Amino acid sequence: MRPFLFVVFGGYGDLARRKLLPALFRVTRKPEFQAWRLLGVARSDRFDDESYRDFVAEALVAAGVNRDEARQWARNAGYEALGAQTPEDWQRFGRRVADLEAAFDTPPLRVFYLALPPAAFAPVAEELGRLGLHLPRDRSRLVVEKPYGRDLESARALTQRLHQVFQESQIYRIDHYLGKETVQNLLALRFANEIFHALWHEPHIRSVEITVAESVGIGNRAKYYDRAGVIRDMIQNHLTQLFTLVAMEPPAHLKADEIRNEKVRVLQAAQIDHRGQKPPLVLGQYDRGVIAGQAVPAYREEPGVPPDSTTPTYAALRLRVENDRWSNVEFYLRTGKRLPTRVSVIVIQFRKPTPARRYRLRVQPDHLVIRLQPQEGFQVWIGIKEPGKPHDLRRVNLHLAYQEFFRQPLPDAYETLIQDILEGDQTLFVRADEVEASWQLYEPLLQEENRYQVVSGEDALEPGRVPVFLYPAGSWGPEAAAQILHQDKGTWWQPEVET
Ligand code: NDP
Ligand code: BG6
Repeated sequence: MRPFLFVVFGGYGDLARRKLLPALFRVTRKPEFQAWRLLGVARSDRFDDESYRDFVAEALVAAGVNRDEARQWARNAGYEALGAQTPEDWQRFGRRVADLEAAFDTPPLRVFYLALPPAAFAPVAEELGRLGLHLPRDRSRLVVEKPYGRDLESARALTQRLHQVFQESQIYRIDHYLGKETVQNLLALRFANEIFHALWHEPHIRSVEITVAESVGIGNRAKYYDRAGVIRDMIQNHLTQLFTLVAMEPPAHLKADEIRNEKVRVLQAAQIDHRGQKPPLVLGQYDRGVIAGQAVPAYREEPGVPPDSTTPTYAALRLRVENDRWSNVEFYLRTGKRLPTRVSVIVIQFRKPTPARRYRLRVQPDHLVIRLQPQEGFQVWIGIKEPGKPHDLRRVNLHLAYQEFFRQPLPDAYETLIQDILEGDQTLFVRADEVEASWQLYEPLLQEENRYQVVSGEDALEPGRVPVFLYPAGSWGPEAAAQILHQDKGTWWQPEVET
């Protein structure tokens, strides 16, 4: 394993402090990642090397690392201030990188992690190019955080600028959902188990529901969130990744590009589902409410949110996929902030078997419930005959909980992703054409955002406007979300019934 230099732009930001530093710590506990240096970079001169090491150590302590171990580990860290980012500042940064590299026995792998506001992604990559730090290509990697663009055009423009310097094989676009253990297991579940592989298509599957519910609000992120909204923040990336992993065809081999080719193909075959009379999309914005016994403010009352904001914090939408596998299956995606609980779940609803319909048995459809977080696991809901009764069926839940079965904590998503970056495995990173295909899918919805109108109760919708329904914090979102479900689909899966 090669030694490596890990350069975090945005070295003292929230992401670095809460996620990246603890994840890097865990990666470097592994024997193959022993030779390394960390360089935190930002414009501010609030740190020198010594005080940055204190900052790093505190971040680790906050993540549960023993203080002595944290301080020892932080001795490998340094800090570089970019100030006003003049050419001299960048030259100084370049010399610092060269000095750090010279201290290794062999030239180290370089990882430039852009934990920066998105507007700084391309300018920083261009400066790295001017310094020649993108070369040699097999030794230099660029990691780009989300959001990647705010629509198709801006995502394309960002890719073009990055590609002026870094080749696609050097770029690692983060969607941290791909680093989650249960998300990676989706392909194993589908392709390594015949009972699922054989049934995973249209005649057997009735619908697929993907829910990512959060009980948190937007916290102090109004500046970002109010311009983004739920489609950009969650749907275009995290939920779409889940959707592609459920819907993609099996790749010929388990190679990064073959997997990503299949993901792009299914995205290109996906559309917003306008079939039938039912609307394909329902949007919502959280109002005041109560969560876990605590009163919480409305979205419009959050610090920094304009009191007349129309930004949606909830979306439920229906997709279809135009291919042989899925032509009559609906995909439902649902996510929102300030819902009653934090839960991410994928529910595969099977069709009722033909014999049961012929015998006129009152059966419930089978369900496979994949619980992504928390309390990770699976449930298979099937019907069994009630003992002593000739025709009565009982619903039973065959289940597995990761915690009971593996008896060890799951690796954190960022730990997995950082390790893959160091190993040069791009499977869990989003390729440029994949980002574009997912923006393209939602382009028609994003074009409607200047017509949003927040409505509650009896409010009349003005002509030509798109409703954003107010929902009480602590509820499962606007009641109107039920309108997007196909008439014989039943209701949304209620995660509460699982317990
Ligand atoms: P913060 O605002 O907390 O930190 C941003 C950091 O970037 C600061 O250290 C800032 O320091 C530095 N910075 C800003 N502009 C520049 C620049 N031009 N050159 C160098 N450094 C700069 O942001 P977060 O850490 O929360 O987020 C960083 C990125 O990660 C964003 O793209 C965000 O969307 C993404 N992300 C964050 C998540 C989180 O949980 N925080 C989750 C998912 C994604 P200074 O001002 O001194 O330069
Ligand atoms: C981030 C979004 O990408 O993912 C946040 O910007 C959201 O709004 C978060 O809260 C959810 O991630 P997780 O891992 O907590 O489900």
